[in-house]
Amino acid sequence: MSASVDAQAQATRRRLFPPGFWWGAATAAYQIEGAVKMDGRTPSIWDTFAATPGKVVGGDTGEEAADHYHRYAHDIATMVELGLSAYRFSVSWPRIQPTGRGPVNAAGAGFYDRLVDELLEAGIRPVLTLYHWDLPQELEDAGGWTDRDTAYRFAEYAALVAGRLGDRVPTWTTLNEPWCSAFLGYASGDHAPGRTDPAAALRAAHHLLLGHGLAVRALRTALPAGRQVSLVLNLSAIRSVSPAAADRDAARRIDGLLNRLFLDAVVHGRYPADVRADTAALTDWSFVEDGDLAVVATPIDLLGINYYHPNLVGAGCNGGGPSPWPGAADVRFHEMPVPRTAMGWPVDASGLREVLLRLHLEYPGVPLVITENGAAYDDRPAPDGAVHDPDRVSYLHSHLTAAHEAITAGVDLRGYFVWSLLDNFEWAHGYGKRFGIVHIDYSTQRRTWKDSAHWYRDVIAAGGVPGR
Ligand code: FCB
Repeated sequence: MSASVDAQAQATRRRLFPPGFWWGAATAAYQIEGAVKMDGRTPSIWDTFAATPGKVVGGDTGEEAADHYHRYAHDIATMVELGLSAYRFSVSWPRIQPTGRGPVNAAGAGFYDRLVDELLEAGIRPVLTLYHWDLPQELEDAGGWTDRDTAYRFAEYAALVAGRLGDRVPTWTTLNEPWCSAFLGYASGDHAPGRTDPAAALRAAHHLLLGHGLAVRALRTALPAGRQVSLVLNLSAIRSVSPAAADRDAARRIDGLLNRLFLDAVVHGRYPADVRADTAALTDWSFVEDGDLAVVATPIDLLGINYYHPNLVGAGCNGGGPSPWPGAADVRFHEMPVPRTAMGWPVDASGLREVLLRLHLEYPGVPLVITENGAAYDDRPAPDGAVHDPDRVSYLHSHLTAAHEAITAGVDLRGYFVWSLLDNFEWAHGYGKRFGIVHIDYSTQRRTWKDSAHWYRDVIAAGGVPGR
């Protein structure tokens, strides 16, 4: 076979994605920026939480992180070399509004002006998330997301950022993963602000969703026509460990709290009756006021899905500390007989296909984007300086294949963002868990492409993944 015939054969074996598909990578402000005290930024709940002994592994904080605040131009050059068509980043609320209210802090906003301008110059679509968990500490001191007023403060902040960047940013996301903000932040206490009150977590979930709806409306007013507005949810396939009624009921409850609570509210304007019943002993849900759910269900243009792994559950209990599952603390999470990442998360791409098909069937009409997908492994530079991460390549390959299968089955999937562009501050796990396709040596801030970055560049250049 001649080289060109060979290349052609290879190309036909690839699963090609539709023209215009967004090939992206994602990050979040607190996880990569560092510079936490620069240009008027004040502490967020994550600065406070990370500074609290025992909350983050190794006492790590986002103080320097990947120093992206100063190295963004270099990082955008990396995105260009990768061939990315889109970059998902978040704006740090306490850079824009250091006290959580009041006018724009021009010095803090300037960073995002520079970032967006540089992205546009590079031909990369900026996909902006307004809230990736870094609530200004002053707002937490006033009650945080358990206080209804925080939802209004969020909409005000959204309008300010829209006024500043709306002329240049085409795609906007309100919240990243409200499940985590509410249930890890206020029920299990694994995340900032570290509260352990399941009733408060449900209240927080509602105020986050209300804040989302109010922000969508504020964005529609403040943005020029044609801008896309979206929400990002962490969704999963929830599987019952057996067909027994008690196990299936456990799966129903977890599916209710993780998936349907958010999807039903945003798509259908209602909270699932079974979730309300499951949590009736904790709250009467009187924090939901007349008209709130119509606000929550204000139409969006895109739904972002962060998918990492399925969950296998049944009746029983895992024990351990406070649960992130209000009204379902007694459910047992089972190990799956499949390989696991460094997070201990099972690798099973069929769960992604399942989530996408379910959305297509049960929540139709909203175009989808995979806004996060990826895996942590214990990556270390080899003696030759390269970083070999075959497990991550395999993870990305199987999940992109699942995404392609979903498209073939009719799912309106518009893009894929790998989590993450760079190794970064992995919340309560600190710097020990590496999700990047680019390795960071935190002592020098040196960036090194892992094999997965080379692989992803080739996938983007070819427009699809090799057939399997
Ligand atoms: C998601 C978060 C993201 C990152 C990945 C691993 O829940 O949105 O910031 O931590 O998990």
